[in-house]
Amino acid sequence: MRFPSFLLIVSTFATNAFACPGKSRYGFLPPKPTDLRGPCPALNALANHGYLPRTGRNITIRSVLQACEDVYNVDPALLTGVAKLGLLTSNEPDSFTLDDLKLHGTIEFDASLSREDFAIGDNSRFNETIFSTLANSNPGVEYYNVTSAGQVQFERLAISQRTNPDLTNTDKEIGFRSFTFALTLAIFGNVTTGVTPKNFVQIWFREERLPFAEGWARPSCTLDPASVNKLTGAVKDASKWSSSGGCPYVRTGVSDAPTLDSKAICKQLDSLTAKSG
Ligand code: HEM
Ligand SMILES: *[C@@H]1O[C@H](CO)[C@@H](O)[C@H](O)[C@H]1NC(C)=O
Ligand SMILES: *[C@@H]1O[C@H](CO)[C@@H](O)[C@H](O)[C@H]1NC(C)=O
Ligand SMILES: *[C@@H]1O[C@H](CO)[C@@H](O)[C@H](O)[C@H]1NC(C)=O
Ligand SMILES: *[C@@H]1O[C@H](CO)[C@@H](O)[C@H](O)[C@H]1NC(C)=O
Repeated sequence: MRFPSFLLIVSTFATNAFACPGKSRYGFLPPKPTDLRGPCPALNALANHGYLPRTGRNITIRSVLQACEDVYNVDPALLTGVAKLGLLTSNEPDSFTLDDLKLHGTIEFDASLSREDFAIGDNSRFNETIFSTLANSNPGVEYYNVTSAGQVQFERLAISQRTNPDLTNTDKEIGFRSFTFALTLAIFGNVTTGVTPKNFVQIWFREERLPFAEGWARPSCTLDPASVNKLTGAVKDASKWSSSGGCPYVRTGVSDAPTLDSKAICKQLDSLTAKSG
């Protein structure tokens, strides 16, 4: 049976509401020289498509949570904490720029998948040499999975351990590293198995473009804390991580030293674990 053509038009409209490359308000446009971008490929891509201000400025917690839900179908509950940390990187009371987010030690961490370590080079811009570990992983097949993600995490950390004497590698960093990687696998692939087409991930990192034209669509099920945290744990386990020592800390402002530096807290924790262990 043939569908009446008006139905086809309606359904094309519905599925393409977020997807008209170069045409709609949400088409992909690379940033202008005056636009700001930063260390997060997810948010850079949202700005390149106009789901966040294309200037990369004046980003609010609400706007970032809304855009991540609209485009990536990520439950805001999963991102509220990180979005609030984002605000600490800014001098504005209630907004940040994408560039602000590179403040080392608030969210930004070492041994990233696609950016150099802060002490080594540019911790904000995409770098193909850094990205090659992930790009070339799981050879011979067209997908990444939990096993290969763990190997990439291990290798990226080993490179930083060899090259970066100022490496920070505590529970906080491995937590964020596993979370951002798992979230990427969940958005572009399967949140349960972690199996994810390579080309979606590569286009997104390299071009900071949503790979609609290549067949990606918004995940049909909301990515909620329960499902994503499971995958985060699996990626972390597969990465065979061990700490390089040091205390987890959060930098609470642009001109601040690591003020939530938890050396004192760590000492307390150590004495508590010593007592209980
Ligand atoms: C769907 C939502 C998001 C996804 C899929 C996502 C994904 C990612 C990925 C994969 C990275 C790692 C890049 C790398 O290792 O080279 C990253 C980094 C980062 N993201 Fe996001 N992100 C999301 C939302 C956010 C939000 C809401 C914020 C804060 C407002 C944020 C701030 C950052 C920052 C500061 C980094 C730098 C970390 C580093 O040093 O690599 N992201 N993100
Ligand atoms: C920033 O965004 C808010 C809400 O999205 C808007 O009301 C305000 O005018 C914007 N400010 C600037 C400077 O663009
Ligand atoms: C990319 O990172 C590598 C390794 O740290 C570095 O040698 C190279 O200069 C970086 N490239 C750019 C364009 O910054
Ligand atoms: C991931 O893919 C590789 C290559 O196909 C395979 O050897 C490995 O077993 C897979 N891992 C899982 C958990 O399925
Ligand atoms: C993920 O893979 C499982 C097992 O193959 C499958 O049952 C499920 O439907 C897949 N989920 C998504 C979102 O593709």
